[in-house]
Amino acid sequence: METRFRDAQVDRIRTDLLVIPVREKNLHDPTVRLLDRRLNGHLRVRIEKSKFTGSEGSSLLFPAAGRLPAEQILLIGLGDESAAENWRKVGARARREAGAVGAGEWAIHFAPAKNPQDAAGAIIEGAMLACYQFDKYRSKAKPSPEPNSLTLFRSGLTVDAPLRKAVSMSQTVVPAVFLARDLVNEPPSVATARFLGARAQEHCRGRGLTVEVWNKKKIEAMKLAGLLAVNRGSHEEPRFIKIRYRPAGKARKRVALIGKGITFDSGGLSLKPSKSMETMKLDMAGGAAVIATMACLPKLALDIEVTGYVPTTDNLPGHGAQKPGDVIRYLNGKTIEVLNTDAEGRLILADALALAAAEKPDCMINLATLTGACVTALGTHVAGLFSNYQPLADDLLRAAEAAGEKLWQLPLVKEYKELIKSAVADMKNIGGAHGGAITAALILQEFVGTTPWAHLDIAGPAFAESDNALCPKGGTGFGVRTLLKFLCGL
Ligand code: BES
Ligand code: MN
Ligand code: ZN
Repeated sequence: METRFRDAQVDRIRTDLLVIPVREKNLHDPTVRLLDRRLNGHLRVRIEKSKFTGSEGSSLLFPAAGRLPAEQILLIGLGDESAAENWRKVGARARREAGAVGAGEWAIHFAPAKNPQDAAGAIIEGAMLACYQFDKYRSKAKPSPEPNSLTLFRSGLTVDAPLRKAVSMSQTVVPAVFLARDLVNEPPSVATARFLGARAQEHCRGRGLTVEVWNKKKIEAMKLAGLLAVNRGSHEEPRFIKIRYRPAGKARKRVALIGKGITFDSGGLSLKPSKSMETMKLDMAGGAAVIATMACLPKLALDIEVTGYVPTTDNLPGHGAQKPGDVIRYLNGKTIEVLNTDAEGRLILADALALAAAEKPDCMINLATLTGACVTALGTHVAGLFSNYQPLADDLLRAAEAAGEKLWQLPLVKEYKELIKSAVADMKNIGGAHGGAITAALILQEFVGTTPWAHLDIAGPAFAESDNALCPKGGTGFGVRTLLKFLCGL
């Protein structure tokens, strides 16, 4: 989307759609007053009739009828202006409306915000995110919003470096989010482990990036026992994807990102009921977020080394499938008794976490659609955060807040280690009836050693159950924005 800035008064802008964000109950602000004067008081009358108050999510469309250089005016309720998320939603709503009224060009009054660069970045991000569609498998594509261009204006607006940077940041981040969404939305018989490996190779190109895709033979040689165990019920080979970004100069820090890449989770022999399986192509959303984040790094030119690890396979009950009661022996000597083959994410992440930890990064972050229990606890909009190192958790909470993704910290309750004790092995792969998100996190923790580590359980927000302002039903790309914000802030 082409984006421009202009220093101009609201009654001087020639545009198809003039968008005016209005703060809640602030209808007497000078911009609205000026417009109303130019429209001979008609705007005020319309506002009163419509009961538009500027509350978040409300809007009012008004034709300028030749009294202004703009064709139509759209007042949009901003709610609380200090939240970047509100600017994001305004950007999304305005872009949708611009599409609906066929505006080739639209302009948004970029009222002074507390953080102008954050607000500008958020408007553009929202406007771009709102346009996502996945039409590959429709015989007739849904009418997609016409491409249009956007002007951010205000009288006295000066365009400085932070403002420009915010714009280019949004233009970098959104395509990465779209890549993650695409990978999740792809049908599970298409998006196999091999497919994910190929997409990683395709998208992770550019200065500083290298990709390795290990096949089954190499995975056997590397003794990734968890990935091999889960893959036993499948006729598709597993893959282990390792992507590395090295900065041009010396790396100031080293970070590992690990993503769960179960391309379809049937539960294995501990088969899921069919309703729960409907969306289980989402189970590689963590891996998709890692691949998409890595693909973006050359554009950001950060001076940190980042390594992405994605163990990937489907979880099926084919012949050869692992059985409840089987024991997996990991490379680091630890053993897990598999009592439920549907608790497979932790089994493949264990290998990847141990491998990542062996390289002694400064911190490691894993993303996984790990537990239904986390969805029960936090709902579908919020991811669970677990960490063995509070400063890392704090950084991630801050990054998520700024990125507009919801994260809530949950505790690693030592006492619950009792619940994962096994009769025959070091631990079993399921806990008791309660606290399932926590027991899953405790199992992961066994494989990270003392490395500062955070685990994001994204089972809820990875997949939208219905359309919303920033994303249609399907994969959301959750995590990409938080990871990029986090990496940029290191
Ligand atoms: N992929 C699922 C978790 C999941 C559930 C993701 C719902 C998204 C939405 C995971 O592999 C799983 O099956 N977890 C089990 C663990 C249980 C068997 C201990 C679960 O949550 O029921
Ligand atoms: Mn499962
Ligand atoms: Zn799963």
